[in-house]
Amino acid sequence: MEETKKLYFGTNTKMYKTIADTTKFIEELVEATHDISPEQARLFVIPSFTALAEAQKKLNDSNIMLGAQNMCWEDEGEYTGEISPVMLKEIGIDIVEIGHSERRHVFGETDYQVKKKVEAAIRHGMTALLCIGETKEQKDCNIQDEILSIQLKTALSSIKSTDADKLLWIAYEPVWAIGVNGTPISKSYATKRHKHIRSVLVDILGEETGCSIPVLYGGSVNMDNARILLSDPNINGLFVGRSAWEAKNFNKMLRHILEI
Ligand code: PGA
Repeated sequence: MEETKKLYFGTNTKMYKTIADTTKFIEELVEATHDISPEQARLFVIPSFTALAEAQKKLNDSNIMLGAQNMCWEDEGEYTGEISPVMLKEIGIDIVEIGHSERRHVFGETDYQVKKKVEAAIRHGMTALLCIGETKEQKDCNIQDEILSIQLKTALSSIKSTDADKLLWIAYEPVWAIGVNGTPISKSYATKRHKHIRSVLVDILGEETGCSIPVLYGGSVNMDNARILLSDPNINGLFVGRSAWEAKNFNKMLRHILEI
């Protein structure tokens, strides 16, 4: 239960920053957030693959964790264009983002592939940041909770509570709320979904572990809704896109939610 009180805050820079852009972003971020301890906030950045090695060097002595945006489930093999967990471990990656809406809906990743990726990340001792969320059509049909249950139950069907306890984070990111065309979520809708997600996690992993898994919210998070969303006890952190791609904005939002 203790773990969920900690704040989780980070960004995925999608396909926007080159190595040079990422290096500059991270240098500024390390400088701006050097006084924030991991107990105050678990900070993380998820840049593009090509920038990961440079990013790792810059983050080495910082309190900011480094993530990758995707990963293959196999350690090696005939998988042209893929990056394996072994390769990410070699760089020193802490977190692997799995099943982001753009992976699922632009590149056709299935729930079953997502499951294999979550298992591979955990097997290699990296934190799996499992992204789940319903589309607008599913929301309009009022089957959002069923969709979230299916995504969670498929991805976690073979995960042990003892592993999940240490190496699993969830990000609830409704597809219709993400990106420039996304609609910011209402507090009441977010509360209902996060409550449901928590109950499914308890169902799958048991009371203790189910309650301890950090569940973040993502999708059009901004300075206006960040604090409102975090006032829900079932929302343990924020996974931010556009609003955090400048170090000064990342830092400003972080201090706003920490109220410092
Ligand atoms: P956004 O992206 O904050 O720009 O909507 C969120 C995400 O894709 O994680």
